Amino acid sequence: MEDDHNSRAAPPVPPVDQLGRPLRDLRISVMDRCNFRCPYCMPEATYHEAFRFLGPKERLDFDEIEQVARMAAALGVTKIRLTGGEPLLRPGLPDLVRRLSVLPGIDDVALTTNGVLLPRFAPALRQAGLRRVTVSLDSPDPAVFAHMSGGRGDLSAVLKGIDAACAAGFEGGVKINTVVQRGVNDAGVPDILARFRHTGVTVRLIEYMDVGNRNGWARTDIVPSSELRARIAARWPLEPLPPRYRGEVARRYRYVDGAGEIGFVSSVSEPFCGMCARARLSSDGKLYTCLFATTGTDLRALLRAQAHDDDTGQRLRAVLSRIWRHRADRYSEERTRQPEFPASGEEISRREKIEMHYIGG
Ligand code: GTP
Ligand code: 5AD
Ligand code: SF4
Ligand code: SF4
Repeated sequence: MEDDHNSRAAPPVPPVDQLGRPLRDLRISVMDRCNFRCPYCMPEATYHEAFRFLGPKERLDFDEIEQVARMAAALGVTKIRLTGGEPLLRPGLPDLVRRLSVLPGIDDVALTTNGVLLPRFAPALRQAGLRRVTVSLDSPDPAVFAHMSGGRGDLSAVLKGIDAACAAGFEGGVKINTVVQRGVNDAGVPDILARFRHTGVTVRLIEYMDVGNRNGWARTDIVPSSELRARIAARWPLEPLPPRYRGEVARRYRYVDGAGEIGFVSSVSEPFCGMCARARLSSDGKLYTCLFATTGTDLRALLRAQAHDDDTGQRLRAVLSRIWRHRADRYSEERTRQPEFPASGEEISRREKIEMHYIGG
């Protein structure tokens, strides 16, 4: 009576980590390459022609990605974000979106992109079930934009991409991510906001972070959200909005004059590790439990070693569950834990960490 026994077994309890946090959000990097060279993410000095990116066989294929996502969903993940590098450089991305958006338990598939390829792909992505798009845009000034994309980006192409995303009618809307660096693009923030007020596009202002070890981050490069918010509110009064879901990364505000909403992602000045429910999968199949992790777990080895084994799914699920139960990451809180001893934060920051283009935002 094997079936009978199974049908009566209690559904497995979704894991929580060492700090009581559930697993809800899986961020999948599908491509470590990018057509930009933003100095804070892929500085040209490191990512030049001789840099060895992953080859096609090293990347998880769509079957493998789907398998990981299916098991993550069985453990509580409801939300998937596709990232890169630049995810739209991955051939056939709409097919992957189609497969992920119908997985049981997944109710939200989103994409973070630099926007350049959206005119080509937005309609197909929408049709495939993509709910939301976030486009990275650091400045509306062509010269500053060119500098911040490492001389590779063309502002008008990104703006066309944003238009294409708006025209495609994504159910959950379009957002802009703006990483703010003091003395680089902070003066242009009001221009970005002015451009997207009244459009329904939400701009999110992100504190520049010490992701990876190659961007030369210094604490003095950030503009704390509190300062930025005061500057903005002096021109356009703001009022806070409640979070849309528990653990939302951005603090939401609305313009009092009704022009729309903006968000602040304050990972340096106000860390939000306490409710962090995010796991990250690199394009070569390593699972990381923090954006600032130093090591990940190689799921590709497991997937490929067991390629023809019916139990692979269950084994994968057990591994994911175990990883999550052991998780105790709270990097951003550790970095700011002892503000009276800033050097301790700097020391943590110098640890060997994964890079943003490899693991996504
Ligand atoms: P919504 O689902 O739209 O609320 O956003 P999201 O949580 O998917 O946020 P998104 O990926 O757009 O994140 C915006 C930025 O916040 C990223 O590009 C990162 O810079 C930063 N960020 C996102 N997640 C984390 C995180 O877990 N830790 C830290 N420190 N920063 C994060
Ligand atoms: N700090 C904050 N945000 C970053 N991003 C990339 N590098 C950093 C960093 N060092 C953002 C990009 C993009 C997303 C993928 O992550 O601007 O919106
Ligand atoms: Fe590419 Fe985004 Fe990194 Fe810029 S921030 S180099 S667009 S992955
Ligand atoms: Fe989550 Fe790590 Fe970011 Fe904290 S620093 S919010 S634990 S990803």
